[in-house]
Amino acid sequence: MRKKMIAGNWKMNYTLSQTEEFLLEIKDRISVDDVDVVICPSFVSLYLASNILDGTNIHLGAQNVFYEEKGAYTGEVSAPMLVSAFVDYCIVGHSERRTMFNETNEVVNKKIKILLENTIKPILCVGESLEERESKKLFDIISNQLNESLKDIDEKNVADNIIIAYEPIWAIGTGKTATLEQAEEMCKFIRDQIEKKYSKKVAQSVRILYGGSVNTKNASEIINSDNIDGALVGGASLKNDFVSIVNC
Ligand code: PGA
Repeated sequence: MRKKMIAGNWKMNYTLSQTEEFLLEIKDRISVDDVDVVICPSFVSLYLASNILDGTNIHLGAQNVFYEEKGAYTGEVSAPMLVSAFVDYCIVGHSERRTMFNETNEVVNKKIKILLENTIKPILCVGESLEERESKKLFDIISNQLNESLKDIDEKNVADNIIIAYEPIWAIGTGKTATLEQAEEMCKFIRDQIEKKYSKKVAQSVRILYGGSVNTKNASEIINSDNIDGALVGGASLKNDFVSIVNC
C-alpha cells in the first residue's frame, strides 16, 4: 500500500516573517499520520521552517539543489547544506526550472544522484507543454524525461526514495486542471514505464503525484484515483486551503 503524499511548493513566495506567520497558523491543524506532508519553502526560509516544524510530522522540502558537493559555484546551494537545514525532500526538474533556468534531463539526473547520496528524497517533476500534448508526441516526451532523468538510478532508490510528480505545464498556475482521466492516464503510463525499466514490484512501490492547479475542490477526486498517490500543490499551498487539501 503506497502512502499518500501532499507536497506544497511555495515557489518564490514568503519572506521569513511571512513563513513564520503562516506555518504557526497551519502546523497544528495538520496532524495526519497516514499521509506524508511536505512543505517546500525558499532556501532562505528552510532553517526557520525546520525549527517551527520540529516535533510535528510535517516534512521539509527544498525546491532545488546544485549537483556538486561544494566549491566555487556562486549562488548555488548543495545537498549537504540542505541536510544541515533538516531537509528530507527536494523538488527537481520543475517545469519552471526547465524552461526559465535551462534545466535539462541530464542536469536533473545529476541532481537526483547527489540528493540520493545525501539521503534526501527527490521529487522528480515531468510534464508536457500544451503544444507537446497536441503534437501527439506526449508519451514519447514523458518517457524520455523519465529515462534520461533516472539514468543509472538503481531500482531500490526508485522504489523507496524517489517520488515522481506528473505536472502538465499547461495546468500549472493557470487554474486549468487536467481532467481526472488525463491525470490518471498519464500517471498510469508513468507507472507502466517504471515497470518496463525496472519491475512490477518497483512500479507498485513508486509514488506518483499529480500537480497543476490542485485546489480544495478537485483535490479529493485526484488524490483518490488508482494511480495517483497524492499532489504537488503550488498556489493553494500558500493558503489555508493547504490544510483542507491534506485533510481530504
Ligand atoms: P499550481 O502549481 O498548483 O499553482 O498550479 C503547481 C506546481 O507548480 O507544482
